[in-house]
Amino acid sequence: GAAQAQTVFLTADRMVDVETGRLVGNAAVLVEDGKVTFAGDMSTVRLAIPEDATRIDLAGYTIMPGLIDMHVHLTSSADQHGYKGLAISDEMSAIIGVVNAQTTLEAGFTTVRNVGAGSFGDVALRDAINEGMIPGPRMYVSGPPIGITGGHCSDNNLLPEEYGLEGENVADGPWAARSAVRKNVKYGADLIKTCSTGGVLSKGTKVGAPQYTLEELTALTEEAHSHGLKVASHAHGAEGIRNALMAGVDTIEHASFIDDEGIRLARKNGAYLSMDIYVTEYILGEGEAAGILEESLEKERMTGQVQRDNFRKAHEAGVKMVLGTDAGVYPHGQNARQLSRMTGFGMTPAEALQAATVNAADALGKGDTIGRLAPGYFADIIAVEGNPLDDISILESVGFVMKEGVVYKSVD
Ligand code: ARG
Repeated sequence: GAAQAQTVFLTADRMVDVETGRLVGNAAVLVEDGKVTFAGDMSTVRLAIPEDATRIDLAGYTIMPGLIDMHVHLTSSADQHGYKGLAISDEMSAIIGVVNAQTTLEAGFTTVRNVGAGSFGDVALRDAINEGMIPGPRMYVSGPPIGITGGHCSDNNLLPEEYGLEGENVADGPWAARSAVRKNVKYGADLIKTCSTGGVLSKGTKVGAPQYTLEELTALTEEAHSHGLKVASHAHGAEGIRNALMAGVDTIEHASFIDDEGIRLARKNGAYLSMDIYVTEYILGEGEAAGILEESLEKERMTGQVQRDNFRKAHEAGVKMVLGTDAGVYPHGQNARQLSRMTGFGMTPAEALQAATVNAADALGKGDTIGRLAPGYFADIIAVEGNPLDDISILESVGFVMKEGVVYKSVD
């Protein structure tokens, strides 16, 4: 059964107000029924603390809202790349997901957007977490990504034609794309993931080459939006990024070769970029041993540094950014490593934290329930020793994790 949320009065040295990017002293949060009823400097108010409240004092710690990773694959593990992945059944993927969900939550990520699973195992994982069967982050899931024949998202190009290996969600043409969206809605997806270019880790695709026509992407996006679902489009190359933005997608994943027109369109549409600028270090460092194909390593060598330079450029141009790591390609639980790369490539620590909290919540359409510590919000709270605005890398060792009022990791 699920751990029950109790009334909790939590105090700490400081709290990060992620909206303003400022620290608040004498931090206190009152949690009732899994939600925040007070958060702020307790010396400024007269608080009535319920007598039955459990008291948690995090002396020496800084608290902040739980982190949000907008690009993970919980049902994938980092040591099963390339041909190794062919041996993993859907059932095994789901079990892998159970382990990774706990690891991710304990690393301080109380919400994730799971943008692609090989089956509907992500839906099952989300539901098992929500029902309290297993510990894990709050999940927003896409189900199997939708894309073209041979595409990065949708298909599997590892075996010759006579084996008849086909990906989960190949949909060519506007009506097939709409139909695939309808299928994912039917089986429980919260959002739609598609691919508008090739990728690094898929055999035989080109990062610079568009996948889907504008007509197909427009139909897919219109269909998703008509069901109230947002669309995340994987796109490295500039043309595919522009196509996705013209079609009206909500987030661009990777955005490696984004050009000035892509930056202009993203700003005009209010679309978010989710640029995974840590993972290149893992791919080039440990990828070969993990089964990543040489052709993929070669694509990564052409992509990683350009993506980092364009992260700086897009951020300077004022494009909205979220934290999206592609954990699953590299080990789950190491999600926070990207934060220091985001500050290394132009963000302030406060901006990196905003990308991982408020901006992410807003991009999910959940800005009224997660990503902030304020009355009415879910009590998703993490704590780190020290001040993350001085040293963002301390978020790589989160000491305390509460999700919806339940403690999953405590300091003693
Ligand atoms: N899943 C992505 C792909 O295969 C990973 C890209 C990682 N590389 C990078 N520089 N962000 O395309």
